[in-house]
Amino acid sequence: MLDQYGRPIDYLRLSLTERCNLRCKYCMPEGAKREAEGDVLRDEELLRVCAAALSLGITRFKLTGGEPLVRPGCVDFARSLKALPGVEQVTLTTNGLLLGEKLDALVAAGLDGVNISLDTLDADKYRAITGSRVFTPNDLLRLLGDCCERGIKTKLNCVLLPDNREEVVSLAAVAQQLPVDVRFIELMPIGVGGRLERVDPDAVLSKLRRRWTDLQPTAEKRGNGPAVYYASGQLRGRVGFIDAVSHRFCESCNRVRLTSGGRLKPCLCYADTLDLKALLRGGCTDGELLAALQKAIYEKPRAHCFDRRGEITEERLMGEIGG
Ligand code: GTP
Ligand code: 5AD
Ligand code: SF4
Repeated sequence: MLDQYGRPIDYLRLSLTERCNLRCKYCMPEGAKREAEGDVLRDEELLRVCAAALSLGITRFKLTGGEPLVRPGCVDFARSLKALPGVEQVTLTTNGLLLGEKLDALVAAGLDGVNISLDTLDADKYRAITGSRVFTPNDLLRLLGDCCERGIKTKLNCVLLPDNREEVVSLAAVAQQLPVDVRFIELMPIGVGGRLERVDPDAVLSKLRRRWTDLQPTAEKRGNGPAVYYASGQLRGRVGFIDAVSHRFCESCNRVRLTSGGRLKPCLCYADTLDLKALLRGGCTDGELLAALQKAIYEKPRAHCFDRRGEITEERLMGEIGG
């Protein structure tokens, strides 16, 4: 369906849980104050919302979190979602820790793509950024290779931080070894992200252009998200940028979010949500669910206000609202 600004909305980011098995410093750091969202939606409730979304033309679904793979039964859920009539794509964004043990089952369930977060190739920095004591960047590089071998679209997500700004060429070079898109994500001022130093993505692009002199923007569609991609003859994958702050992409926004607690969130930047859990558990009819969804999507805000910090009303952590 179209929202009030004429943008086609066809992508729903579904947070399966707000729990996470890492403590990334820009997302859900150790000790950060968290608001419990209460019960999460059960699979059948999520599927009911997805079926309603499908009837409004939303055909692409991203499983996010927290860490989506810590939700019990997440593979069964992915399979049921993929089997709903009209679903074009189900993809996953994960920190990778539980992916090795679930990858084959996810592929068999019909998963179309996976994005793995990896902010550094240095084991000590990885520990400092994520708090992980057992997993290492090499484990994640192996997993990226495993995903490629299984033929699913595979991307690496790297949030730009002062910790990794000197490493961007090595990180982008992962796209030289593997057919993986490497995306640099500008830190967004949501949750603790607002208190950390932001790295200028244009400076990163200039650095990459010095290393790969034929790097050119490409208009290929590589996913459903806001990334802008660059190609080089020497790279098997693409290099992508998600510059929400310095290059706002809200005019082409195609998505809404559902938090694990069942709140439909029309825009990342604002606290306004529609409490679908209350509606579902209050015994709403399919018609009432559809009408409420339609209204919330139609009224989606025009754009974020990351440049006017005082107007950002979202106060929760990124992991609590589905990344
Ligand atoms: P695909 O390319 O289809 O996999 O989608 P994606 O880029 O949306 O997926 P992913 O979950 O990997 O998100 C990457 C980054 O983009 C995260 O930091 C998201 O928070 C950010 N992002 C996704 N959608 C939006 C959006 O609507 N607004 C903003 N500001 N950031 C977004
Ligand atoms: N700014 C930008 N990206 C963030 N992510 C988490 N917090 C932030 C933030 N403040 C990223 C994760 C993951 C994706 C879902 O969101 O690293 O790649
Ligand atoms: Fe869409 Fe809001 Fe993201 Fe802008 S900040 S791209 S309007 S969800």
